[in-house]
Amino acid sequence: MRKNIVAGNWKMNKNVIEAQQLMFQLLEYKKKNTTNCEVWIAPPAMYLMMAKDVFSHNEIGVLAQDMSEYESGAYTGEISADMLESIHATGTLIGHSERRQYHGETDSHCNVKVKLALDKGLTPIYCNGETLEQRKSGQHLEVVKYQIEVALFTLTAEEIKKVVIAYEPVWAIGTGETASPEQAQEIHKHIRTLIADKYGKDIADEISILYGGSVKPDNAKEIFSQPDIDGGLIGGAALKVEDFAKIIEGFN
Ligand code: G3P
Repeated sequence: MRKNIVAGNWKMNKNVIEAQQLMFQLLEYKKKNTTNCEVWIAPPAMYLMMAKDVFSHNEIGVLAQDMSEYESGAYTGEISADMLESIHATGTLIGHSERRQYHGETDSHCNVKVKLALDKGLTPIYCNGETLEQRKSGQHLEVVKYQIEVALFTLTAEEIKKVVIAYEPVWAIGTGETASPEQAQEIHKHIRTLIADKYGKDIADEISILYGGSVKPDNAKEIFSQPDIDGGLIGGAALKVEDFAKIIEGFN
């Protein structure tokens, strides 16, 4: 079901004291403020159970930053869908550009992971987006089309309705160079049209499509006002409660 979502991807940041402090600051904020969006965080995996304890009434959704493509077994360092389901995680990021860049993740890997997550009742947040070279050479629409088709188009209509998509142009991640609202809207509309062509408009209109890539307190409102943008996947600005709160208020 389509909803507004602001999700914070903490990446590899915060020791346990800092993580607990930020979680309690977010809980305090959530208790004192009505938000016009769902608020989720993706802390480092070692803090997932802490997050579930702090947000014991599901005030804030708890996501993994990645999940194994395997069900269980000799895969050192990996985390399974079953493990995430057993701690009642909300879902998991899948295919973040940093997993693709540093760990060779492909859209085919993402396809397996998305299906595994759905089978376990987890919400997959499928991350995709073009590189600077691909945008400069005008390939961005084709690249995103390929990413969406390979990772998602084996799903049934009922399954894809449960997927959240995060468009994150690689050239905007961590660079401070944000896609303009128009650039972001163009790709979000492109993604929604691809899904409508495959599954029908009603299904496409049910899917939340988030933007990620240097979303900050001063640009969130304009980005979120675009018709096909349903929220954001936030990196650096998610690490301080005051900045993350201002981005959440971008929906007010
Ligand atoms: O997953 C969100 C992240 O990649 C965006 O990072 O720091 O550009 O907001 P940032």
